[in-house]
Amino acid sequence: TPLTTSIDGKACAERVLDEVADDVARLADEGIIPGLAVILVGEDPASQVYVRNKIRKAEAVGIRSLEYRFDDTLPQAELLALIARLNDDPEVNGILVQLPLPANIDEASVIQAILPAKDVDGFHRQNAGGLWQGLPSLAPCTPTGCLRLLRETCGELAGKHAVVIGRSNIVGKPMAALLLDADCTVSLLHSKSRDAAALCRQADIIVAAVGRPGMVDANWLKPGAVVIDVGINRIESETGGERRTRLVGDVDFAAASQVASAITPVPGGVGPMTIAYLMQNTVTATRLQRH
Ligand code: GUN
Repeated sequence: TPLTTSIDGKACAERVLDEVADDVARLADEGIIPGLAVILVGEDPASQVYVRNKIRKAEAVGIRSLEYRFDDTLPQAELLALIARLNDDPEVNGILVQLPLPANIDEASVIQAILPAKDVDGFHRQNAGGLWQGLPSLAPCTPTGCLRLLRETCGELAGKHAVVIGRSNIVGKPMAALLLDADCTVSLLHSKSRDAAALCRQADIIVAAVGRPGMVDANWLKPGAVVIDVGINRIESETGGERRTRLVGDVDFAAASQVASAITPVPGGVGPMTIAYLMQNTVTATRLQRH
């Protein structure tokens, strides 16, 4: 029987959202209601679910949301024109463009068009660079949520060896920056890393963000390690002639539970934290723009 803690991301996200709701109430005393614009281009089914959840949580904490939906024929120039209008609109404090974008639109150009002070995803180069220099910046929501889970699970982070697997701009790279800022010793692994398993076995903390189901196995873990699984992989399975999809992470949860001291489940681990920190970032952005 595993002595492992399953880290409850839903409960932690509720605590973050309670904090955000308090912040929103204090802004309301000043006559300020934060506004979040959410833009979805195309029909990606996962993106539709994420956007719906973001809008629902915004309303739950008292943030005004504006939803913009387009089909995948939207010209890039029109998307850039919308962002320019939202940049200039004082009622809009946060702008989120759900990724991925259709192939005819250049993601980097769209991200750089967002005013850095309204970039609640923290993807703009000014925020990404500021994060690495320890300057006040909007940081990406998913790694910020992971850091909160680690702080509540591990206690002191200083001096611990954290291994991050995956070097995306959305998760891996900002996660490494945040852990470094928390005084961890950080190893950033990726698809070309030699002997990833041996490096992982030296880790006190593992954050897996590669999008490969079951890639991190029990024999990759030091006993007692804390594991954060950012992967969201849809698996088609067939049981008794019934086809269904289920969500799994990058970590073999059942096997890892025999070795790790704590691990996030998928779903119910990191996912809810991402949305909670989007709301927190919207409040932070609103404060940055105040007066
Ligand atoms: N697609 C996958 N993750 C994210 C995210 O955190 N923000 C946005 N905008 N799109 C995403």
